[in-house]
Amino acid sequence: MQLAAILLSHDEEFRRQAAQLLQGGGVPVGILDPRRIAPESSAGPDLALIDLRHDSAAGLNHIERLRAAHPTLAIFAVASVADPDLILQAMRAGANEFFTWPGADASPQTVLSFDESFHGAVRRAASRREATHAGTRPPSVSLVFFGAKGGAGTTTLSVNCAVELARLTKRPAVIVDLKASLGEVALFLGVRPRFTVLDGIENLHRLDRDFLKELVAKHKSGLDILGGSEQFDRPGAQDAGAIEELLRVLAKVYDFVVVDAGNFVNSCALAAFHAADTIFLVTNPDVPSIRNAQRMVDRVRQLGAGSERVRVVLNRFAEHLMIGPKQIETALGYPIHQVFTSDYRTVSTALNSGVPLALTNHSDISSQFDAFTRQIISPSPVTPEPERKRRFLGLR
Ligand SMILES: Nc1ncnc2c1ncn2[C@@H]1O[C@H](COP(=O)(O)OP(=O)(O)OP(=O)(O)O)[C@@H](O)[C@H]1O
Ligand SMILES: [Mg+2]
Repeated sequence: MQLAAILLSHDEEFRRQAAQLLQGGGVPVGILDPRRIAPESSAGPDLALIDLRHDSAAGLNHIERLRAAHPTLAIFAVASVADPDLILQAMRAGANEFFTWPGADASPQTVLSFDESFHGAVRRAASRREATHAGTRPPSVSLVFFGAKGGAGTTTLSVNCAVELARLTKRPAVIVDLKASLGEVALFLGVRPRFTVLDGIENLHRLDRDFLKELVAKHKSGLDILGGSEQFDRPGAQDAGAIEELLRVLAKVYDFVVVDAGNFVNSCALAAFHAADTIFLVTNPDVPSIRNAQRMVDRVRQLGAGSERVRVVLNRFAEHLMIGPKQIETALGYPIHQVFTSDYRTVSTALNSGVPLALTNHSDISSQFDAFTRQIISPSPVTPEPERKRRFLGLR
């Protein structure tokens, strides 16, 4: 479940850096644009970051007002120095956390430990939020599938995952096709949606539960489908903010939001990464796919979308291949979360008959799918931290 954050600062560069920092940890964080708040998200932010560096009086004022309006809001105050008086005032005004922003001359060690304690505070804010909402409804889970290259199986895996989640849990689930120009999600599911993602983002101002019901197409598994745009260049860069808001609204209505984000890192894919609890990076066991996957893991990290949330999925694996999972893990410096074997007959029969892969009789791929979706529904308590070391094996 994404945390909704607001940033209060007059300094644009600070807002940019703070957004990157907020979004770079293990918890998905959306930055709210106060001008673009849909009815379903009117519940307000979960976290506010207040800049006290230049005008501490105004900042303290903001903290007081926010605290009065939102008793459970996590308020982070940021100053340039750890002045004990200011810390005390900020805490009295209602801040939960106080941070000293590292200056341009800060050592890498200082920056690293600052990042760590900041991300720790974001995690605490997320657990507090969960505790507050406990008992109301399970937190929504957003899963984004992204291909290391075209044809890797991104649509196949996202569609089957979404159908399985809807079928097994009987809870509200939606799949969103973010690809520009006729993505294949609806086609794979054998439905013909009347509306698309574009209708969603063009009607953000009235996008509530009832309106959403009109926009989505229904699959017999119970899954809702928000179909792909038919325009070649949309959703494009100009739509990224709206996509982020759309995904936020969907997370308020659905327990599972599955996104087929295609295989281009554009601003819409990035918006999806920001909303994602988990980003499944789909790769194949061939050198170009692995090289791209490697670059993607780096890129996601660079973009600050939180590489802790990336899980590598190896699709179309076969025993006789030259490159094995272990070698791929070494090359990526990342563990493989799930392997799906190559089985064109089962995959295409499932597709043509509309039977989800998990139900195809006794195939390897059906048990792999079963394990994959069950892990999403009830994650094992310890998820190992991705390993950061890597060796290259001549893949660059
Ligand atoms: N595990 C698998 N074994 C065999 N064939 C597979 C497997 N997964 C997917 N395929 C096949 O590979 C082709 C491409 O799959 P799919 O459309 O899901 O990929 P994609 O990454 O979404 O492609 P695109 O870049 O066009 O969006 C399809 O014909 C699909 O049936
Ligand atoms: Mg596809």
